[in-house]
Amino acid sequence: MSRLIINGQKRLEGHVYISGAKNAAVAIIPAAIISNDICVIENLPVIEDVIILSKAIEKIGASCEFRDEHTLIIDSRNIKSCYAAYDSIKKIRASYYLLGALLGRFKKAEVALPGGCNFGVRPIDQHIKGFEALGAKVTVEHGMIKAIASKLVGANIFLDIVSVGATINIMLAAVFAEGTTIIENAAKEPHVVDTANFLNMMGAKIKGAGTDVIRILGVENLHGAQYSIIPDQIEAGTYMISAAITHGDVMVHNIIPKHMDSLSAKLREMNCNVEEGDDFIRVIAKDKLSSSNIKTMTYPGFPTDLQPQMTALLSVANGTGVITETVWENRFQYIAELKRLGANIKVDNKIAIINGTKNLTGAQVCATDLRAGAALVIAGLAAQGQTEIDNVKYIDRGYEQIEEKFRMLGADIKRVDD
Ligand code: UD1
Repeated sequence: MSRLIINGQKRLEGHVYISGAKNAAVAIIPAAIISNDICVIENLPVIEDVIILSKAIEKIGASCEFRDEHTLIIDSRNIKSCYAAYDSIKKIRASYYLLGALLGRFKKAEVALPGGCNFGVRPIDQHIKGFEALGAKVTVEHGMIKAIASKLVGANIFLDIVSVGATINIMLAAVFAEGTTIIENAAKEPHVVDTANFLNMMGAKIKGAGTDVIRILGVENLHGAQYSIIPDQIEAGTYMISAAITHGDVMVHNIIPKHMDSLSAKLREMNCNVEEGDDFIRVIAKDKLSSSNIKTMTYPGFPTDLQPQMTALLSVANGTGVITETVWENRFQYIAELKRLGANIKVDNKIAIINGTKNLTGAQVCATDLRAGAALVIAGLAAQGQTEIDNVKYIDRGYEQIEEKFRMLGADIKRVDD
């Protein structure tokens, strides 16, 4: 068990380098096993979820070798099993991508129902609807999802809800389906595009990723590929918000500034200076922060995965801000912890009303999920005195070397292992 100890109110200054995107990595590792060949995945973040997934694909027969800590060589020529047991994947929700990948390649898959961060019911009905439309029979029994097909045939699939997971999973299953698959009302998130680019590099024929209509023309074979994962939009946003809350001056490098548009706009609205370069953003927050209202949306809207971090920021801004969460039904559990640091927040169902206070004060708190943990770190950086964050395992699922990166920016933060 690890804890993070932060002595707050240090102004962040300097440079931070963003790692590869977690949500792209957890899709691209399963995508690699469709190829029946060798793939080299570069710019992987060094985080728990990547380790868990690489072990999970090893268990079904792939061989995984880290050439260096960010580069994984996946040889999927000897995969024998289509069964991913609960033990190997229970901790990550993205394990459901093994379902699409195995179904696509072997026409059968049996994968444990996913776990992951807990912020509400997390159905996968749209994934299942997609697999069934392609011709698979899908059953859920004893905590396992089974999908089996004699053959997969392209279909028109209109998603009832814009779902990142369903969009990617259907793409994975459809790369070998006969004919054309069309996904309408598809998610447009950067990691959807990244996964499609990787599949195309292996020989898939996917068009339209990044728009709400994706067309997949089935192919007969894929080959290995070498691919570098995009930078992590949410990690970048977390450091941008940290710069704002500490009235700092931080250059966030190795990013795609376009992915940050919705956050950059909000930070400007809140009185920060946000400058963009080709692959960096500089956030300078000299002035008093003013409040803002935020509604989480699918991309290119404001990402739900930056919602908790923004709540932390609004809790010290001047005035009242309103956050409306439209993606997840129950993503405000962490607010009880922010209140322990002195935040003044009222929650009514999917709306949080945040009255900015002059100062947060350090306290002992507990991360309830990955991004909630990031919000507590951000609040701790701004709080007077010491903040101690428990349950760091959640934060480690998605942030590479979080305390080292913050220390480089001048934060007083350390990890204590019990
Ligand atoms: C992904 C991200 C997660 C992010 C979320 C929304 C990964 C590994 N995780 O999760 O960090 O918070 O996108 O940007 O990429 N839904 C259904 N039925 C389904 C699927 C989803 O009703 O079959 C609902 C969900 O309950 C949720 C909404 O659709 O309310 C969006 O979910 P989805 O985009 O699928 O999220 P994930 O892919 O699980």
